[in-house]
Amino acid sequence: MDRRDLISRYDRRVPRYTSYPTALQFHPIAGDGWYRDWLGGIPQDMEVSLYLHVPFCRAMCWYCGCHTRVAKDEQPVQSYVAALRREIALVAGAIGRRLAVCRVHWGGGTPTLLSPATFAAIFEDLSRHFDISTTVEHAVEADPRTLTDGLADALAAAGVTRVSLGVQTLSDAVQRRINRLQPFDQVAAAVGRLRRVGIGNLNFDLMYGLPGQATGDVVATAEAVAGLSPSRLALFGYAHVPWMKPHQKRIEESELPDAGGRFEQLLAGAEALERSGYHRIGLDHFARPSDSLARAAAEGRLRRNFQGYTDDPSPVLIGLGASAIGQMPDGYAQNVVAIPDWEREVFAGRLPVAKMRGLSPEDALRGEVIERLMCGLVVDLVPLLDAHGYPPTFLDDSLRILEEAAGDGLVEVDGRRIRVTETGWPFLRSIAAAFDAYLAPAESRHARAV
Ligand SMILES: C[S@@+](CC[C@H](N)C(=O)[O-])C[C@H]1O[C@@H](n2cnc3c(N)ncnc32)[C@H](O)[C@@H]1O
Ligand code: SF4
Repeated sequence: MDRRDLISRYDRRVPRYTSYPTALQFHPIAGDGWYRDWLGGIPQDMEVSLYLHVPFCRAMCWYCGCHTRVAKDEQPVQSYVAALRREIALVAGAIGRRLAVCRVHWGGGTPTLLSPATFAAIFEDLSRHFDISTTVEHAVEADPRTLTDGLADALAAAGVTRVSLGVQTLSDAVQRRINRLQPFDQVAAAVGRLRRVGIGNLNFDLMYGLPGQATGDVVATAEAVAGLSPSRLALFGYAHVPWMKPHQKRIEESELPDAGGRFEQLLAGAEALERSGYHRIGLDHFARPSDSLARAAAEGRLRRNFQGYTDDPSPVLIGLGASAIGQMPDGYAQNVVAIPDWEREVFAGRLPVAKMRGLSPEDALRGEVIERLMCGLVVDLVPLLDAHGYPPTFLDDSLRILEEAAGDGLVEVDGRRIRVTETGWPFLRSIAAAFDAYLAPAESRHARAV
């Protein structure tokens, strides 16, 4: 089957499966009692992970799909930080013990627009309420355009071990079309600043499918940034969802590459990174073999969470900040999204949760199947069904959905073992979707798979 037919058949609007069920299946819930129960029920000896969301940027990139807004001055940031510090105390109070933490992740938005003193103060609060001494990875998302020497020092002082830098593209013409001017030298300077303070684990985010972007631009960017030797890169396809993110209307739709162009950019970008010594991981990550994510993938420990791929072993991720999503053994919890509403809840002394989703036994089973496919591109259904207490035939309806993909060479099905092939890898999300029991009504709201 030729490439065009594959794209028309499998480049569907499906979720990225950073959770299952996805956030579209979370439901609004009144009161914070259920979340207090979840937090209070975390076993004493369990190591947990923390996610802190900082939803501010200095300027809006027009492609941006994150929960963020532009902060023109310091007032909204300071007010947010005061609420975040209060939320840390509230959550710790609901837990009732000083839990050990294995991972801390700051995302956004742009956490690095916090001043060095503010970053240090929030971290001090975290350390007071949680035992950070056992934290093996402390990661921060950073914008190379605004990362100062002072902040690099504050990150190092707080024990940050990994920084993820947004690069996207080095093409000047594309940068102008997305409102993000960022020459190579600025990226190199940020890398130099971080390495000088001893932060050597660096990730870069790259994108394809941007307006005016050509395959050659994706390859040139991949090759140039590989020269800076980050330990890990992500290559994300631009998700154009202007009905959810109105600022994306500033992107000229006629300049977006078509489905065939996006597919070519993904393959060419991936090949360029692999030629430069990076191993492909899951759907969109690339890492040096010595990187912790590559090691986790090789050892079958790779997992998927709201930050994408991770080697975080903890079943508990506590989300802090407006819109932050947390994960518990029993399900998911999402904080209030609108910043003023989130602040109001916090200052009223309530845990600022707005939505939750408990997991049924079938959700847990399907979620694990989808996670295995998204991480290792292979899943053996029978032992999983057995472990979850289901008969071997329970997912045969989903297997039947994959018959067409098997015929087209995207997957190999041996009994009830599924392996995604090299032809199938770019369509991984569409393949995983065969196991999604909720997809049909939600499908049209997602971005394309490739
Ligand atoms: C929170 S930002 C990274 C840190 C910092 N704010 C920056 O941009 O430099 C997270 C990443 O998500 C990716 N991203 C944002 N919007 C996207 C979209 N609409 N489609 C695909 N990827 C997107 C970008 O690669 C971006 O670097
Ligand atoms: S991509 Fe990063 S810097 Fe740009 S608007 Fe989104 S969060 Fe902010």
